[in-house]
Amino acid sequence: MVKSFSISPTPSIIFGVGKRRELHGLLQKFGKKVLIITGSGSFSKSEAGRQLLDDIQSLNTCYFASVPGEPTPEMVDETVSKYKTVAFDVVVAIGGGSVLDAGKAVSAMLGKNNSVIEFLEGVGTKQPDGTKVPFIAVPTTSGTGSEATKNAVISRVGENGFKKSLRHDNYIPNLALIDPELTISCSKEVTAASGLDTFTQLLEAYVSTKSSPFIDALAFDGLEHVVKFLKPAWEDGNNTEARSGVSYAALLSGIALANAGLGTVHGFASSVGGMFPIPHGVVCGTLMAECAAFTIEKLEKSSEAYMKYAKVGRLVSSKANEIDEYYCNALTHYLHRLTEEMQIPALSSFGVTREIVPQLAAITENKNNPVTFSTEELSYILEKRL
Ligand SMILES: [Fe+2]
Repeated sequence: MVKSFSISPTPSIIFGVGKRRELHGLLQKFGKKVLIITGSGSFSKSEAGRQLLDDIQSLNTCYFASVPGEPTPEMVDETVSKYKTVAFDVVVAIGGGSVLDAGKAVSAMLGKNNSVIEFLEGVGTKQPDGTKVPFIAVPTTSGTGSEATKNAVISRVGENGFKKSLRHDNYIPNLALIDPELTISCSKEVTAASGLDTFTQLLEAYVSTKSSPFIDALAFDGLEHVVKFLKPAWEDGNNTEARSGVSYAALLSGIALANAGLGTVHGFASSVGGMFPIPHGVVCGTLMAECAAFTIEKLEKSSEAYMKYAKVGRLVSSKANEIDEYYCNALTHYLHRLTEEMQIPALSSFGVTREIVPQLAAITENKNNPVTFSTEELSYILEKRL
């Protein structure tokens, strides 16, 4: 019997090389007053970036906001306050996951007098009402899949830091416009970290306790693409076919995580990322191999999740007709090798010490991981990546 499941809406999706050229025309459906949110990275300075912004400005009245890093409550509140007298028709975020999350949060908070912090899960006490200014997400990295999710991650890094979500079904972007050519300006470091975030999201959603056959099909397709194209995209950033494959995988990862949830690696992304200034993709990339290896080790060999890990292992193995255990080992070796080859830094490079590990483990959630780790086991995983 097919397992019961329910699926959240997805945005309208326009995907393909060169599709950015359709954006300024598509905006006409929403109106002419546009708030454009960008990052401070290389995209805005690239030829493709300048051209895209020129095209939008040719037909619309544009206002701008820039997001220098992962969005904080203050950053969102300041933008909302700066533009409180403007009645926007649409908010367009063009950038990496942080920019898309910032745009999503700003579109939700425009016209309201509260701080966004009051609505963050586990931090605030209020429930978002789901009203927003229409929102368009245009990713320029292949990573978080934020273009397809209903949450914006807002963080405050430090001693009592947090990384928490503003979440509502209505916050799914009205439109996700994905042009893989926009990711060509990404550096090797960004390609590696954001690509491994995508890989983690697909793998965690695929083996999640909340998985469903519907999402499994999408997640596995994403895994096939990320296995085939991430390394080539990292090796040659101008390889449009590889960039396209990873952009597609990232989109699928967003849909998969919005419906099937995530696992322990993303639990660490909240706890470790809340206390230390480590890019989200780096936390995920550095911990995914260890987490997958330990999860596989603890799983019953007859369990659904174990068989799923083996199925992913077949994608990375050149041998046929081996038993599941062989393919699970192949997967963990592959993930360790990929982390090494793509030069993902260890946690100690960002100041994480052995002394702080128990404190981090104590606040880490297992989320929907197919096995639940104890605090001691979470410490063990962290220590392996110091
Ligand atoms: Fe992620």
